[in-house]
Amino acid sequence: MNAHLMLRPMTLDDLDPVADLDARAFGASGWSRRYFAGELTDSPISIFYVLVGAERELLGYFGTWHVVDQLHLCTFAVDPERQGEGLGALLLNCVLRLAQRLDCQVVQLEVRESNHVARSLYRSRGFIDEAIRRNLYSNPREDGVLMGVLTPQQVDHSSWTRAADIWPGGLKLRWDDRGGTLDEQWPVG
Ligand SMILES: CC(C)(COP(=O)(O)OP(=O)(O)OC[C@H]1O[C@@H](n2cnc3c(N)ncnc32)[C@H](O)[C@@H]1OP(=O)(O)O)[C@@H](O)C(=O)NCCC(=O)NCCS
Repeated sequence: MNAHLMLRPMTLDDLDPVADLDARAFGASGWSRRYFAGELTDSPISIFYVLVGAERELLGYFGTWHVVDQLHLCTFAVDPERQGEGLGALLLNCVLRLAQRLDCQVVQLEVRESNHVARSLYRSRGFIDEAIRRNLYSNPREDGVLMGVLTPQQVDHSSWTRAADIWPGGLKLRWDDRGGTLDEQWPVG
């Protein structure tokens, strides 16, 4: 069987690897395991997904807050040992697809001003700088850039070609959230 990626909802069983990945990706400014647990159990607006590989290993994740017609990307990371393979672009496409499914008009996020990799990734998907949030971050203290994009009608899958050699089976998406349940496959076909 061709190796494939899977996107599925984050569960409490994922929290150890998620907290470990988060600490390696964000260092001292990351979220604690307990904070993630609170998002999964005590926050009706939170929708969190994980990206796993052929051995069910955690490759990345994202977390969103869904408020009326806005989706806010509140956390997002790829395993540092797997960065640069196109997985971040793929996960961001999943965020945009989630926004479509939830009928959100806009997707917003905040990013450290010095995080040029993430900012260039967001720009490549149409996000623009909307505001500066002074001293938003600590460890170390830094301004945040609020970025936003209108939810696209079509998600651009051109980045998939970078991952196609490693994941010939494509990406299976198992959506299960306040937008309902749905199984999808990328690329379609
Ligand atoms: C931001 C992040 C999710 C990107 O994930 P990734 O899997 O490395 O990204 P991709 O391989 O899909 O690359 C996407 C784009 O990022 C940029 N990029 C990736 N690695 C880069 C690098 N080392 N230097 C410069 N730009 C880079 C490129 O613009 C690339 O686009 P391209 O396809 O035109 O080359 C990842 O770097 C990460 O987890 N960082 C730590 C946590 C973080 O900062 N999260 C975002 C918080 S707002």
